[in-house]
Amino acid sequence: MPILALDNVSKKFGALAVADRISFEVPQGQALGIIGPNGAGKSTLFNLVTGNLAVDAGSIAFAGQDVTRLRAMRRCAMGIGRTFQIPQPFGKLTVFENLLVAAAFGANEQEADATERCAAILEETGLARQANRVAGSLSLLERKRLELARALATDPKLLLLDEIAGGLTEGECGQLVETIRAIHARGVTVIWIEHVLHALTPVVDRLLVLHFGRVIGIGDPREMMESEAVREIYLGIEI
Ligand SMILES: Nc1ncnc2c1ncn2[C@@H]1O[C@H](COP(=O)(O)OP(=O)(O)OP(=O)(O)O)[C@@H](O)[C@H]1O
Ligand SMILES: [Mg+2]
Repeated sequence: MPILALDNVSKKFGALAVADRISFEVPQGQALGIIGPNGAGKSTLFNLVTGNLAVDAGSIAFAGQDVTRLRAMRRCAMGIGRTFQIPQPFGKLTVFENLLVAAAFGANEQEADATERCAAILEETGLARQANRVAGSLSLLERKRLELARALATDPKLLLLDEIAGGLTEGECGQLVETIRAIHARGVTVIWIEHVLHALTPVVDRLLVLHFGRVIGIGDPREMMESEAVREIYLGIEI
């Protein structure tokens, strides 16, 4: 049974189809990359999966259960975790407090358990030394790490990453990729939207290409990149 299955999911903003009969499945434990030009509907697709937006048509199943009509908080508690393209920490809370809030929101657990688990997540995401700093004072890389850590604090089985590597230096990006690889290696299914392709390729098993709300292709990352349709979309665009 796939951990995530979309069946003909559609969404319009006015006349603009941002999700146009999208169907695909993600097997448990896989890492799927999503690429597509600006405005293709990538972040919207995440919002539909998480329940931040309601679909107009189609259905979404998580771990065999139809979640199409469930609220975002319920889906999060079931195990769908996500990062936001624009990090949204509580700027006046410390890094550790931000994790505790996420844990309370998403994972339904007692505070003692949450404290221990959040401490482990700080280690895993390389934020242990920043634990008591207020989130508003973090550097870009630290904010990206915190965004990842907050998603992990909700204890996801499926982790959705929205352009987490954007704007980082080469070295910073490499560090973040290693962290994500380790998270995936411990069994978390990952779906990762990214413009920085060389960040994706060491991690993802498959690549999905989105264009004007439609799935242009899904399959082996190399084959996808070399396909006629993808070359056409990116013609003249550096990727
Ligand atoms: N709440 C909204 N209301 C109206 N239009 C929206 C809304 N959110 C997004 N859009 C539009 O829908 C389209 C898809 O947006 P989306 O953010 O999903 O693209 P994206 O693929 O994530 O792009 P990017 O690579 O720039 O992040 C864009 O044309 C955007 O302007
Ligand atoms: Mg986006």
